[in-house]
Amino acid sequence: MKTIRQSLTEIVNFDFVNASQKEIEDILPTFGMNNEYISEIPPMFSKYMGWGIKFWQYPNQLSKLLCHLKGKKINSYLEIGVRYGGTFVLINELLKRYNNYVESHCVDIIPPSEILHTYQHEFVRDRFYYHQTPSHSSTFFDTLTGVDQMPIGRTTKKIDLVFIDGCHTYPCVKHDYVTALILGAKYIIFHDISNRNSESTRLIWNEVKKNHKKTYEFIDQYEGMDANYLGIGLVEVSPEDAVFPMFESNYPGVTLSE
Ligand SMILES: C[S@@+](CC[C@H](N)C(=O)[O-])C[C@H]1O[C@@H](n2cnc3c(N)ncnc32)[C@H](O)[C@@H]1O
Repeated sequence: MKTIRQSLTEIVNFDFVNASQKEIEDILPTFGMNNEYISEIPPMFSKYMGWGIKFWQYPNQLSKLLCHLKGKKINSYLEIGVRYGGTFVLINELLKRYNNYVESHCVDIIPPSEILHTYQHEFVRDRFYYHQTPSHSSTFFDTLTGVDQMPIGRTTKKIDLVFIDGCHTYPCVKHDYVTALILGAKYIIFHDISNRNSESTRLIWNEVKKNHKKTYEFIDQYEGMDANYLGIGLVEVSPEDAVFPMFESNYPGVTLSE
């Protein structure tokens, strides 16, 4: 069991760039995992649950996503539904290894956790914004400002990577997907794409896959579980995508999928 500061210090010092996928998979639980919906989490992780950064992911799925994101040109990151912020910290740290000036936004309806408060004030300091708001709020694009203090949603503002893991109902997730496209996201991540307990997110992922040429799934499971759980889907938005003409004005002069 580690304190929040110990876990954050270890993450900030971890060599994501040179670590193999297996090394990342093995070290992730040692940063501390979430302990809600424990029936979805393999018992082998019970000693890692409820402390540290409390990320809510399967290590064998998240490690593969993190490796996939290595070296990508990503200037800005938004996670919709951060909870304690464990996954946000891990993805943000991976991105910062390749771009120390990445601008990062957290969105959730709950106040920032002690983990995110500590991360922001003791480890990151700037270019990190927490927005306590529902992602489907009509003022979402106006309140979500960044380093240039320009309202997001105008053509001058964009977010390169959006992780959708907030409200899990069908209209919410579909709404967040459209939000990501309006933000001109190069990469869009969906959670719970193979979760037995989350029919809406599974359904939407199957719809989303038909709209895009480049999609990736990180859906490894653990032996001994009674069903499939969690699951991460990644879309790389491309001008050849069926939905692209509808959002072309949100991608001004951008070379996609670099
Ligand atoms: C499954 S948890 C997120 C876990 C987190 N992404 C992780 O990997 O550690 C879902 C979060 O979405 C938040 N949420 C629910 N409805 C939301 C909404 N309309 N807008 C933003 N966040 C929402 C919840 O408060 C909760 O913290």
